[in-house]
Amino acid sequence: MPEPRLSRRGLLAGGAATAVGALAACAPDQAVPPVAPQPAPASGGPESPESSAGAATEPFDGLHQAGIATAPQTYGVFVGLDLRPEVDREALARMMRLLTDDARRLTQGRPALADTEPELAVLPARLTVTFGFGPGFLTAAGLTGRAPEAAAPLPAFAIDKLRKEWSGGDLLLQICADDALTLAHALRMVVKDARSFAKVRWIQRGFRRGAYTQPAGLTQRNVMGQLDGTVNPVPGTAEFDRAVWVSDGPEWLRGGTTLVLRRIRAEMETWDAVDRVGKEFTVGRRLDNGAPLTGRDEHDEADFEKLNAIGFPVISEQAHIRRAHVADPNLRIFRRVYNYDEGLTSEGHADSGLLFASYQADVSRQFLPIQRRLAEADLLNEWTTPIGSAVFAVPPGCSPNGWIGDGLLT
Ligand code: HEM
Repeated sequence: MPEPRLSRRGLLAGGAATAVGALAACAPDQAVPPVAPQPAPASGGPESPESSAGAATEPFDGLHQAGIATAPQTYGVFVGLDLRPEVDREALARMMRLLTDDARRLTQGRPALADTEPELAVLPARLTVTFGFGPGFLTAAGLTGRAPEAAAPLPAFAIDKLRKEWSGGDLLLQICADDALTLAHALRMVVKDARSFAKVRWIQRGFRRGAYTQPAGLTQRNVMGQLDGTVNPVPGTAEFDRAVWVSDGPEWLRGGTTLVLRRIRAEMETWDAVDRVGKEFTVGRRLDNGAPLTGRDEHDEADFEKLNAIGFPVISEQAHIRRAHVADPNLRIFRRVYNYDEGLTSEGHADSGLLFASYQADVSRQFLPIQRRLAEADLLNEWTTPIGSAVFAVPPGCSPNGWIGDGLLT
């Protein structure tokens, strides 16, 4: 299939010219020199699985955007951007064509147009680039009335201590990869092209267990030491599809989803002071293997009716998993959570927590009821503080000749 030919100058026209404008004058394939074969391993021996895994790719084109059902990569970065005031519907379309082209190339191990470090593109390490549209984007696209609701900010909760620098945003870039250098390069390339149209509002960097640290498919631990992600819709199942992908409502969002991104600080100093029994009681699960307090193994179903010898529920009325539990699998949320750890205070205290990324077909029907129950009474609230919040409509994927958002903007 021939590649869609994009002229960078054409796409940028109308936005501020950038330093790479000169390269834009070249035909796309001249702008980037072909990348020479990579150096052989020093030993000269056969490649280890680890070294060849850098070449692994996740598909870009498809019904859904990658980076959601994709097995979570080790590193994730979320960037919230604000559109420049002059950006209208026509400019949005130009921007999304340009950013889609970057994402399509980079995720497949090819340099972006006019890539300044093309060698960094050749090991994509399962790179994905996912786009989300905030309320300001939808308004600039000309949607009125109830339509921008897919990305409406959450109502305020009593537990919130939200900070502006971690909240809101018109355009989301979610970039994930198993390699930090690949991710840094992709981030720079995509943001470089976005900046004629939008300004960076915030950036949030996260990580999970390394790709080779434990066997694939095991539940990861979060910075609080808990196994996190046990009860979660499983990609590839009908239940996942029903819970995550939008199947009705506005045409442009069908096959897409919504993302609620909450930055939740973990109060590690006070959490450290809690003993093991207290920590397990708070969540309702064991720390060692993640089993519910009523069971033996991680995936045993929690028995919320079970009472202890003196007649109290084994899993507390206010335990996190009881408050968060949703019986109907179609109404569950899909948690694809990253940890963050941003260095230390002068006293040596950690600034860490979760980039709590929740995907669901419908924020009001799925996410909000859970968040309301947690805000009302969840023992974990004592040690966790939401400090950022943003909601995005995540449009569907696109065909090889299409671009993300084409259903909305054409
Ligand atoms: C820093 C904040 C949080 C931490 C440390 C945390 C930790 C955990 C842990 C350890 C579990 C049990 C294992 C599992 O099934 O994954 C769990 C379950 C769950 N959490 Fe959280 N969580 C946090 C915030 C939230 C928020 C904000 C929501 C949604 C609004 C949420 C929704 C859920 C759900 C739906 C479950 C599965 C419950 C079930 O067993 O059915 N969590 N969480």
